[in-house]
Amino acid sequence: MKADIGVTGLAVMGANLARNFARNGYTVALHNRSRARTDALVAEHGNEGTFIPTETLTQLVENLAVPRRVLIMVKAGQPVDDVIDQLVPMLAPGDIVIDAGNSHYEDTRRREAALAAKDLHFVGIGVSGGEEGALNGPAIMPGGPKESYEALGPLLEDISAHYEGDPCCAWIGTDGAGHFVKMVHNGIEYADMQVIGEAYDLLRSVGGIEPADQAGIFRSWNSTDLASYLIEITAEVLGHVDAQTGKPLVDVIVDQAGQKGTGRWTAISGLDLGSPIGAIAESVFARSLSSQSEIRATAQQMLAAGTGSVPAPQDADRDAFVEDVRLALYASKLVSYAQGLDMLTAAAAEYGWSLDLGTIASLWRDGCIIRADLLDVIMKAFGGRDTSRHPEPGTTAEGQPSNLLFAPEFRDAIAAALPAWRRVVATAVAAGVPVPVFSSALSYYDGLRRDRLPAALTQGLRDYFGAHTYRRADREGTFHTLWSGDRSEIEA
Ligand code: 6PG
Repeated sequence: MKADIGVTGLAVMGANLARNFARNGYTVALHNRSRARTDALVAEHGNEGTFIPTETLTQLVENLAVPRRVLIMVKAGQPVDDVIDQLVPMLAPGDIVIDAGNSHYEDTRRREAALAAKDLHFVGIGVSGGEEGALNGPAIMPGGPKESYEALGPLLEDISAHYEGDPCCAWIGTDGAGHFVKMVHNGIEYADMQVIGEAYDLLRSVGGIEPADQAGIFRSWNSTDLASYLIEITAEVLGHVDAQTGKPLVDVIVDQAGQKGTGRWTAISGLDLGSPIGAIAESVFARSLSSQSEIRATAQQMLAAGTGSVPAPQDADRDAFVEDVRLALYASKLVSYAQGLDMLTAAAAEYGWSLDLGTIASLWRDGCIIRADLLDVIMKAFGGRDTSRHPEPGTTAEGQPSNLLFAPEFRDAIAAALPAWRRVVATAVAAGVPVPVFSSALSYYDGLRRDRLPAALTQGLRDYFGAHTYRRADREGTFHTLWSGDRSEIEA
């Protein structure tokens, strides 16, 4: 008996993906650097399906049906290259190597090109949903050669989450497209969590609402257009009391946010692509600032607040304030999605990927960390799933809005939220509560809609000190003012 797929790297994500394949009726060959994990998996979960435990990578490969499908789930970076280097000599043309980790898309592009030269398929897949998702159905974003999807797609679709019958898995685009889209998913995940944090901070610092009461507020928000996994678990975390101290757990946790790197990669890529993803980048910087514990301690001693007293909203006002914060959260969240999707469009042009935003939004509707009701609306705004990527019926990509904020439903929703959004940012600024994403998202919105931007002055300054030239609004051409001469204008 040969296995349908081999999994190497059986830490919790790899083990859970292997179990998920087995539970879906696939025979799974298992390998781990140390045999103990393989044995533990078979001992604890062997009854969930058919596993073939192996001792070495050679044995793993020998136990696979052709074309061989080998899924690597090891730490991103050099460990992936090490496994690939060992695997390649054992494989034959048409075999498929899958990297399911959070690899950088440039690494995936490099690996895909190197394996293509040996007639092997290398498929970087973005997998979202954490440990539970890996076991019960993650969102899966596969890149790599489209032909490889014929042999691999059905397996991935089977183990993925399903939203109203649609698998949360579809071919995304060539080479590193899958990992790029997963990276942007994580960038949005950072922004999503940061706007939730800003809402929490405002409700507490300005609204005077304690975590236990906020748990109820977030629970009720989960029945509005904010409904999402992250809002749902926010209610859980805020409602949780520390057993040792009796305090809200959130008050016991050190206020320094960690990061493994995908948010930072998103911000760097946004800069490289010239994509204005300020809200996403601010959410990365907010984590960095939180972790500067020594500077923060000094700043608390040294830096003035400069705030007047902002009266906490009372009773009836309080409900209005809570609703304002909800609307500000919604609008800021929408902007971070708009920025992430805009960045995907820029990346598609840069790397020659045919990314379909409707399809991508459809994959995020379930299984992944940013899953939200909103994503179904976003998918529809972009014309549904592209049927050439998936057998289910859908509509074409034609007529997609060039920015998510232009889709009629979102344009109207933001217009309705706008007065509250402005009030909330103004209140936060007056109270000295940092709202980097609420405010940067609003500036992005205003920046887009403003008829004249001060970029004209920037151009004038660049021309003054560096003769960098400028274009005129009233005629074609490139111009320079002779600033240190008679200040006449010449055509450059
Ligand atoms: C997911 C998550 C997952 C992981 C993040 C955490 O989609 O399942 O994004 O990939 O939890 O990478 O990232 P940070 O440690 O950087 O917050």
